[in-house]
Amino acid sequence: MKKVLVTGATGQIGSELTLLLRENLGSAGVIAAGHIKKPDSVLRESGPFHYIDCTQIDTIAELVKKYKVDTIYHLAAVLSASAEKNLQLGWQVNVNGLYNVLEVAREYGCAVFTPSSVAIFGPSTPLQNTPQDTVQRPTTIYGVAKVAGELLCDYYFKRFGVDTRGVRYPGLISYKTPPGGGTTDYAVEIYFEAVRNKRYTCYLKEGTYLDMMYMPDALKAAVELMEADPGRLKHRNAFNVTAMSAAPETIASEIKKLIPDFAIDYQIDPLRQAIADSWPDSMDDSASRQEWDWKPEYDLQAMTRDIIQNISQMLENPS
Ligand code: SER
Repeated sequence: MKKVLVTGATGQIGSELTLLLRENLGSAGVIAAGHIKKPDSVLRESGPFHYIDCTQIDTIAELVKKYKVDTIYHLAAVLSASAEKNLQLGWQVNVNGLYNVLEVAREYGCAVFTPSSVAIFGPSTPLQNTPQDTVQRPTTIYGVAKVAGELLCDYYFKRFGVDTRGVRYPGLISYKTPPGGGTTDYAVEIYFEAVRNKRYTCYLKEGTYLDMMYMPDALKAAVELMEADPGRLKHRNAFNVTAMSAAPETIASEIKKLIPDFAIDYQIDPLRQAIADSWPDSMDDSASRQEWDWKPEYDLQAMTRDIIQNISQMLENPS
C-alpha cells in the first residue's frame, strides 16, 4: 500500500491535495503535516495529521519512519510577496526545508514532488510563450530559492536516484483555502469580492498578464506527474504547466458575463507589480504535454463559472 506524506497540508494546495489523495489511496495512507495553522475538521477527521517544522529535519524523519512513507508531496513554502518581506524565513523554509525533505527522502527511499513556480523566471527571460528551457535569472528571493530547489531536486535524482518531480505552477485560483502572501492572490480575491460586494480594487494594473490555473487542474498535474512513466521524463524538475494567461481586466470581463454590475478599479502595490512584471505573460508547456500528457480541463470561462457558483453556495450556506 502506498504511504504518502503531505507537508504544508493546511495550505492552499495541501488542504485540497490531501483530501484528493485520501480519496485515491485511502485515508490511512495519506499523512497530513502542517506547521502553525490548525487543520479544519474535514482535514483533521479524514486521516492522520501531525505538526512538523520542515526546517527541523528530525520532525520530518520521525513521520517518514513512523508511517513508512514512500512518497512526499512537499508543499510547505513561503510565497513571493511574504518572502520579500521576510527573506530569512523565505530562505529557511523554501531552501532548507526542501533540502531536509530531500535528505530524508534519500535516507528512506522516498519519491518527492515539489512545486516550483513561474517565479523561477525573471526580466531577462522571454516573457511571451516562455520556453521550458530558457534563462532563469529571477529577481525575487522566492524565485532564487525555487531555482535552487529545482537544481537540488535534479541533483538528488542524478546523484542518489531520488525520484524527484515537480511543476512550475502559475498563479493558482481556488475557493476552499485562501493563498497567503503571493503575487497572484488577486485572482482569488477578485472572485470572492465579486460575489460578496460586486466590486474589487486590484493591486496589479490593467494589462498585467500572468499564467493562471484552477485548483482541480493543479491537483491533477501533481498526481499525474507522480504517476507518469519515468522513462518518458526528460525534465523532472520542473515542468512548465499552465491553463490560461489572464490579466485583471480579462478576469473582470469574464466575471461581468455572470455578474453584470461587477466593477473593478485599481490601486497599485509597487512591490507586487514589480514582481508580476518580472514573470512570464504566458508559458509554453509543450514539454509537459509531450512527456506526461498534461492537459488542463479549465479555461478562464469554465473556471469562472465554476468558482462563482461554488463561492455563492459557500456564502449562502457557511459550514
Ligand atoms: N503564486 C505564487 C506567488 O504569487 C507563485 O508561485 O507567490
